Amino acid sequence: MSIINSSMNTQGSQRDPAGPMRSLRHVSVRAVGITVAVGAAVLVVSGAVLHRSLTSVKQPIAFNHSKHVEDLGLGCTMCHLYALTGTRATIPNIEVCGMCHTAPLTESEEEVLVVEHVQSGQPIPWRKIYRIPAHVYFSHRRHTSTAEIACETCHGAMGETSTPVSRPIVKITMDRCVQCHRQSEVSTDCISCHR
Ligand code: HEC
Ligand code: HEC
Ligand code: HEC
Ligand code: HEC
Ligand code: HEC
Repeated sequence: MSIINSSMNTQGSQRDPAGPMRSLRHVSVRAVGITVAVGAAVLVVSGAVLHRSLTSVKQPIAFNHSKHVEDLGLGCTMCHLYALTGTRATIPNIEVCGMCHTAPLTESEEEVLVVEHVQSGQPIPWRKIYRIPAHVYFSHRRHTSTAEIACETCHGAMGETSTPVSRPIVKITMDRCVQCHRQSEVSTDCISCHR
């Protein structure tokens, strides 16, 4: 219902006398489309959520955030290069690690693995933990640069962890997105996130 009401308010304008009827037809076709798409999405997503809750991610190398962030003082975007400017923050790989790890700096066996990847040019097969389904649009730049929201708000205290987390510290749910949008007076139209 809220889809139909909000679309009629914006599209059934007084400027165009044929507007209300035309937009009603437009809206009902669209509403059916959304219902079908959303129904399919529920099936797909509930399967994915079930699968995710049964598996926990193990990373190929025991990367230590705290050592790099707290001890060495590196900022998040030193490694997550596009977290302020891009849609995706991206997970750093050998190009970034290779700035410092062309030869071992420590006795750590995990670091030996990093150096081997850097020297051989074989990317580290990191696995992504935070993800949203393909039917949801999300841009880092919009939230970090434009809205100035801290990484911690959505990712928790990643900088204080000393081993890779096996699942998100802060769960990403539609409720959380919508709750903050409502508080910040940002659009909560389905279409603004489901494109
Ligand atoms: C020296 C490089 C480096 C720095 C600095 C760094 N990270 Fe990371 N980050 C990584 C690597 C490598 C991974 C993948 C391995 C892992 O999960 O530990 C990762 C994973 C993550 C993930 C999980 C991504 C996913 O979906 O799998 C988040 C979130 C994250 N970092 C946030 C941060 C934040 C916030 C900061 C600053 C407080 C930060 N990182 C600083 C290298 C870095
Ligand atoms: C700006 C330089 C810099 C970058 C970039 C960097 N590191 Fe490091 N890293 C260091 C330094 C310095 C140490 C040694 C710290 C110490 O003395 O204990 C270290 C230590 C390590 C260690 C061993 C120590 C431990 O406790 O785990 C691993 C593993 C490691 N880094 C992985 C990575 C990976 C993977 C990347 C790329 C995603 C990366 N580093 C990027 C500077 C860097
Ligand atoms: C408003 C919430 C929000 C904020 C703020 C935020 N992120 Fe994210 N982050 C997300 C979501 C949602 C995803 C999953 C995106 C996807 O799958 O397309 C994600 C994914 C990531 C990933 C996994 C790799 C990728 O690019 O998908 C990393 C790394 C990451 N964020 C780092 C950061 C860092 C560093 C900051 C701060 C500079 C930050 N994020 C701020 C919500 C946020
Ligand atoms: C902590 C608050 C917060 C959270 C959590 C959050 N957002 Fe936002 N979002 C904002 C703010 C504030 C803006 C407006 C930024 C601007 O001024 O452009 C915004 C803007 C957007 C926009 C652009 C809206 C438009 O009308 O063009 C999209 C799309 C979006 N967010 C999607 C998401 C998704 C998807 C999630 C959850 C994965 C999410 N947001 C979580 C605060 C948040
Ligand atoms: C601010 C962003 C945002 C808005 C607005 C939004 N959604 Fe979502 N939606 C998401 C995110 C993120 C997910 C995936 C995460 C999850 O499953 O909770 C999602 C998942 C879904 C799913 C998959 C099933 C589920 O609950 O996991 C359905 C169905 C859905 N949304 C319908 C809607 C409808 C209908 C509206 C409008 C009334 C709407 N959404 C508005 C962000 C948004």
